[in-house]
Amino acid sequence: MKKTTQWGAVAQAAQAADHKSKLDQALADLDAERKAHAETVRALEKARTGKRPIVKARPTSPKPGSGDIVEVIFSDVHGNKHDPAAFSAFLGDLKTLQPDRIVIGGDFIDCGGFLAEHHTLGYVAETEDSYEDDVRVANDLLDAVAHHSNCSDIHYIEGNHEWRVERWALTQRLAHHKDIDLLRRTFCAEHVLKLAERNIKYYHQGKTHGECDVPGWVKMDKMYFVHKISNARDAAEVAMAKAGGNICYFDTHRASFKPKNIPGLGLISAWNPGCLCKRQPLYANTRPTEWTHGYLIRFISRKTGAFQMINVTINDGVSYAGMLLKGGQKIS
Ligand SMILES: [Fe+2]
Ligand SMILES: [Fe+2]
Repeated sequence: MKKTTQWGAVAQAAQAADHKSKLDQALADLDAERKAHAETVRALEKARTGKRPIVKARPTSPKPGSGDIVEVIFSDVHGNKHDPAAFSAFLGDLKTLQPDRIVIGGDFIDCGGFLAEHHTLGYVAETEDSYEDDVRVANDLLDAVAHHSNCSDIHYIEGNHEWRVERWALTQRLAHHKDIDLLRRTFCAEHVLKLAERNIKYYHQGKTHGECDVPGWVKMDKMYFVHKISNARDAAEVAMAKAGGNICYFDTHRASFKPKNIPGLGLISAWNPGCLCKRQPLYANTRPTEWTHGYLIRFISRKTGAFQMINVTINDGVSYAGMLLKGGQKIS
């Protein structure tokens, strides 16, 4: 009995010593933790209040507004089917912008009568407007563009509507090429709009231009231009895949901007300015369209060729370029 009590006391003493050792270790760990926490708080406080060098912005090169080419891109006016309010808003901006270069993306005239045979009855109703009216209106609108912009460097990319007149003239069964030529000179856009007289460069769909070996494609300052690229819902994606570079396409009448970083190629983008024609044509029947009014402004550095493109929206005849154009002045 006595022996058992002695061993119990020894065991208790050993247990007590073990507990003390664990407690001491825990207290030491806690103290270390507190010190580390205090150190972190001090470091954060120092980072918040201490003096640091100011992170410098890289100077913009070149200075915005100086030495840039200002290019305005618009499309799909459709002659006598143009939207007067949207077109007036566009002319107002042209007057302020005074661009160095203008690119017309095609379908400037509507040529409705030349399309009637291919379309449904809903479309045929549109042929009540004569081609003569269409041409007269389109000439007036071109006069207005030249007058308000004071621009002498104008490029006109043939659209599918102009092309159909061209095709009609070429497919008439006339024996002599002179007669075909007569038809072309009488009806085709380039002639009825007096483009040579106006010093406007016209790019036919059926011909190659400059360094582009695909007919109807034009390249200016790191940008491809082509009227019709795809009817797909995501036409911008298709356009970039086909161009492998920056591309401005038209024809869908729907404003778009889509950038994409492609390995080995870098950042490229596709743009569509939308249209300046009526947003709901008769041939769409009961289907509301997704057409938008607007145009594009591109600022191109003369030094590097780098550029900034801006989609300008026109809604209910009001241009949203006001935020870019201070008090009727170009930002510089
Ligand atoms: Fe169009
Ligand atoms: Fe078109």
